[in-house]
Amino acid sequence: MSPSTPDSGWLVEQARLSLKRLTPHLARLFASVASSDLTADEATFFTRLEAHIEPIFAALYELYGDQYDFFYHLEAILTAAAEAYITRAADLKQLDISREAQPDWFQSEVMVGGVAYVDLFAGDLGGVRASLPYFQELGLTYLHLMPLFKTPAKNNDGGYAVSSFREVNPNLGTMRELADLTRVFRANGMSLVLDFVFNHTSDDHDWAKRALTGDAEYQAYYLMYDDRVLPDQYEPRLREIFPDQAPGSFTYRHDINKWVWTTFYRFQWDLNYSNPAVFCAMLREMLFLANQGVEVLRLDAVPFIWKQIGTTCENLPQAHTIIKAYNALVQVAAPALTFKSEAIVHPRDVRSYITPDECPVSYNPIMMVSLWDALATRDVRFMTHTLSKQFPLPPNTAWINYIRSHDDIGWGFADEDAAEIGINGFDHRYFLNMFYTGRFPGSFATGLPFNFNPKTQDMRIAGTAASLAGLEQAQKKDDAQLREFAIRRIIMLYTIVFSAGGIPLIYLGDELGTVNDYGYRVNPDKAADNRWVHRPYTDATHMGNRHDLTTIEGRIFQTLRERIFIRKRTPTLRDGETTFFHTGSWHVFGFTRHRKIMVLANFYEYAQTVDLKPLVSAELYAPVSVLIDLLTGDDYKPDAALTLESYQIVWLERRG
Ligand code: GLC
Ligand code: GLC
Repeated sequence: MSPSTPDSGWLVEQARLSLKRLTPHLARLFASVASSDLTADEATFFTRLEAHIEPIFAALYELYGDQYDFFYHLEAILTAAAEAYITRAADLKQLDISREAQPDWFQSEVMVGGVAYVDLFAGDLGGVRASLPYFQELGLTYLHLMPLFKTPAKNNDGGYAVSSFREVNPNLGTMRELADLTRVFRANGMSLVLDFVFNHTSDDHDWAKRALTGDAEYQAYYLMYDDRVLPDQYEPRLREIFPDQAPGSFTYRHDINKWVWTTFYRFQWDLNYSNPAVFCAMLREMLFLANQGVEVLRLDAVPFIWKQIGTTCENLPQAHTIIKAYNALVQVAAPALTFKSEAIVHPRDVRSYITPDECPVSYNPIMMVSLWDALATRDVRFMTHTLSKQFPLPPNTAWINYIRSHDDIGWGFADEDAAEIGINGFDHRYFLNMFYTGRFPGSFATGLPFNFNPKTQDMRIAGTAASLAGLEQAQKKDDAQLREFAIRRIIMLYTIVFSAGGIPLIYLGDELGTVNDYGYRVNPDKAADNRWVHRPYTDATHMGNRHDLTTIEGRIFQTLRERIFIRKRTPTLRDGETTFFHTGSWHVFGFTRHRKIMVLANFYEYAQTVDLKPLVSAELYAPVSVLIDLLTGDDYKPDAALTLESYQIVWLERRG
């Protein structure tokens, strides 16, 4: 941090002066590649740099202005941006221009995402490419491939311990294939999303290996300590992410006789962003990926990237400054790239990353957790209360709404929100953990406890959507009624996700009702981390069943698919505007979209009747003669009572 905060006038002056001083150097970079079509491009680059130099400079000065060699790093950072721009392919530069003209492209009702592991879903990148017809059948426009970079064979946290951001794991394919894949996808209206695992690298990354040889320059890429003095000062306030598998946040390395900061696993070394060389090196990796045609980068573990003694080292202001600096640099070098934040923290902190100049897109763990909460309690009041407060976002930003991801579910609601309606957060988490591990009497769920921490009593849940929704239990008991409820629960949750404001994201496998896969227990590389229970391989038979409506797979797949296409034909479902309201029944969840569509969903095994009249007059701001359920085509009188079957959901569109 700089010693004193300079005033904004001074910062603007210095930003302009620095740009003036660095322009000849940057222009020489363009001249050195002397291609005739670069001239127009060069002008575009400098126009964008002019437009963004002030935020870039202000952010970098805040982070690194007190370092004697600040200007050297500023030059290196702008050079990295120029070099990336110069080598960016013409088709991507076209995409840059169209995205600049339409910065809210991701707000469209047409957007629907899917997420999958390359190996588990399709074997390799060739298999992913061959799956394009499947993605199109489902209506996807956005595919997130889980980390596919080079990693150690063991100890890789499912790809989140990256050894090289520039190499694809050879078992999965090559960078060339990845770049080709983005082109094929784009030609078919699909954007490729990848993780940018930027909080840490694997201890097998080239930088880490150099650090292990004793190279001080590379040791400074990480956070390393000769003794326990500083770790002992930091540690009491740090959250343990994997207390079972990797207790503590520091790992002793005999080979260099140092303690290394490892927030996650011991082989994942946290990068030192107080070192501007790290900022610059990671900018190069980021822009390299942008130049492969990746359109959205999921910024992994954003809360953890800045550390400061005396704090929890999560969600610090400098973490925001770093992302804003990257965002502004991307606006100059590769504006088609969008950031999506992965912050699975307190709702206030989740929201704090979501602005157009930071992360325009973010996971919505608040809604995800609320949906599971309401399924367990059959009571939608807490969800309605929480979402009314936490759902609204700034213009030109979007939630990614989802029900399951590759990670565990942590009950990340705000205790304050709970207290406001008389719920004790601690006790409620205990209940939810008991419920979703199937230990609460009458529970339908078969989840597994993930990382119980006896010190804090904290625990999270692993398990697929289908298993958490009761399908596994129903199958084991071979109970048709339970099976029916489970199928309806899965379909209802996804139908909410398809209609609430934001981008729906399907964890692929869920569309076929995939239940837990306990096979990980016999794989020594996976056995210790039960998140693998919900990371199953694609089962060809299940996938093949999707056209057969007499199968569970067929019923879930065809219903979700149909509803995805209804969403895509319904412009009222674009962007994030969503208003939640109480429906008069504790069991029926309600929200409107643009005051034109009213969604009602029954979170109960028993039919529920709601009186439409007061809801229509309070929530739909126009005279309504009839309401059409877009999902079935059925029509309803606006002054009638509506009976929702168990787990039924309706999308009622008003007609004047
Ligand atoms: C993220 C990933 C998670 C991983 C962790 C460390 O939160 O989603 O799977 O274990 O970061 O990279
Ligand atoms: C915690 C972290 C999140 C990570 C997850 C992995 O919830 O906040 O970033 O993905 O743990 O289990």
